[in-house]
Amino acid sequence: MRRETEALWAKHDQHEGDRWRLFGAVAGAIEATTVLYPGSYVDIAPSFIFDSVTYVEIDKRAPRFFGDEDGVREIVRRHDGPIDPDVRFIHADYTSELDLATEHFDLLISLYAGFVSEHCTKHLRIGGTLLVNPSHGDAAMASIDSRYELGGVVVARDGKYRVDNSELDNYLVAKRPHTITIDSLHESGRGVAYTRSPFAYLFTRVA
Ligand SMILES: C[S@@+](CC[C@H](N)C(=O)[O-])C[C@H]1O[C@@H](n2cnc3c(N)ncnc32)[C@H](O)[C@@H]1O
Repeated sequence: MRRETEALWAKHDQHEGDRWRLFGAVAGAIEATTVLYPGSYVDIAPSFIFDSVTYVEIDKRAPRFFGDEDGVREIVRRHDGPIDPDVRFIHADYTSELDLATEHFDLLISLYAGFVSEHCTKHLRIGGTLLVNPSHGDAAMASIDSRYELGGVVVARDGKYRVDNSELDNYLVAKRPHTITIDSLHESGRGVAYTRSPFAYLFTRVA
């Protein structure tokens, strides 16, 4: 493994195993084999869990990281991942037209990387899942997207994650009453303050 690969991963995995636990909890709650992760940076953790993951990232360090195929495979193996993981990497801006099938992936991941759902939902199959955290407004964006229904929330506690499917009506309730629109989310680029704050949301693509 190249030294840079190890260093990039070590820095990313500062809270050791955090993302491994997150994706493990998500995998326990949904049926998913194929995953699309736009704005992934070097977060290879989905490949510890899922058989086939396509990463899309614009940062120039990412092609070097994913280009070290042996190194990436070694990191995956250390985490009990698949022996021969299907790891694909696209060095691109996810807002551009990506050479990917439409309505194909089982899981779309949107973590701290802007409005992934807006640009990449077309690649998610109907019945597939969007995992999205609220930080950049993408959870709010999904909440007003008629293609999605809230299917669960990911709750974090003491460094562990669990998926909760109960009392979902209690989530995505804004603290202050105001109308959320695509334009208002673009303008603020931030999430909406809700009365409950799970780590992330699982939306099901219904249309
Ligand atoms: C804060 S990091 C989060 C990385 C990863 N999702 C995580 O949670 O560990 C956001 C990443 O999204 C990438 N990104 C933001 N906008 C992007 C775009 N339009 N296309 C591709 N990558 C993008 C950035 O380059 C950066 O690496």
